[in-house]
Amino acid sequence: MKILIIGGGYIGHRCHDAWADSVISTDRVISKEDVLKLIDEHKPDAILNAAGVRGKPNVDWCETHQLETILGNTKLPITIAEGCQERGIYFLHIGSGCIFYGDSPHPDKKWREDDMGNPTEVTYSRTKWATDLVLSTLPNVGIARIRMPIDYVPSPNNMIDKLATFSKVIDVENSVTIIDDMIDVFYKLMEQKAVGIFHVTNPGTLKHREIVALYEDLVDPNHNNEWITNDDLVQQGLATKTRSNNFLASENLSKIGIEMREVHEAMRDTMEKYAVAKKKGEKSNETLSC
Ligand SMILES: NC(=O)c1ccc[n+]([C@@H]2O[C@H](COP(=O)([O-])OP(=O)(O)OC[C@H]3O[C@@H](n4cnc5c(N)ncnc54)[C@H](OP(=O)(O)O)[C@@H]3O)[C@@H](O)[C@H]2O)c1
Repeated sequence: MKILIIGGGYIGHRCHDAWADSVISTDRVISKEDVLKLIDEHKPDAILNAAGVRGKPNVDWCETHQLETILGNTKLPITIAEGCQERGIYFLHIGSGCIFYGDSPHPDKKWREDDMGNPTEVTYSRTKWATDLVLSTLPNVGIARIRMPIDYVPSPNNMIDKLATFSKVIDVENSVTIIDDMIDVFYKLMEQKAVGIFHVTNPGTLKHREIVALYEDLVDPNHNNEWITNDDLVQQGLATKTRSNNFLASENLSKIGIEMREVHEAMRDTMEKYAVAKKKGEKSNETLSC
């Protein structure tokens, strides 16, 4: 299967490094003609959209750069979809679980794939939700929502590195995505040309405290941080807008026979590999965004 990855950032490079049969495009994609040119040049079986705007140094940037965020997270995926529909190419778009804030209305508090997003204030979340809302009406399109990527490869985009370097960390619990599992799931979704929305998060939930405890156990016993609440983040001026914390139910992957490892098992394995990679001085290939 030949996969064309659009977007040469963190996720794009992690996928490209893992898939021998992929090509990655870092060209600027603005119009449908740009997409058709890439398709005609590479003749892919599937396209993964790993391009987007997350904000630099963090998502608060999007609050003052709304148009860039809309163009990157909403217009660009629709433009890629236009080209893919015209050439009959399967399109997998990377969505975000950050379209959900707080607990779902379901008794188990978890958000389902077909629940409506509830991003009221945050520009990044609104642009991601707008895209899911419209792309999910199309045939031959899959949306893979990920959350808080956790990776064995050290990187400023890796949740482990973020938690290890912040002096104040919010004491929250979330659904998360282990990158090794995500890479495997994305590949399978493209093999199956799976249509619809998929929560690509590992079963179970993880507290930031559990990640930090594992980090201190396996990587740096001298690590130290202060614990604060989610509300403190904005009240103390550490963030402009509140962050999304939530639990996601992943129901659609199992319907098509795709499983991910339980989150604690996957987290321990990842932290063990991370400790080795850190000692060797390994780091990811992506352009650093912090
Ligand atoms: N990493 C996370 O925490 C996370 C969590 C949930 C969802 N996601 C989603 O995953 C996707 C990939 O994220 P990432 O972490 O890999 O972000 P990233 O490291 O910022 O990479 C995104 C890449 O897209 C490129 N890009 C932006 N506009 C483009 C355009 N018009 N044409 C071509 N390339 C363009 C950017 O290039 P420039 O930098 O040169 O503009 C950048 O290289 C995004 O959709 C993001 O919303 C990420």
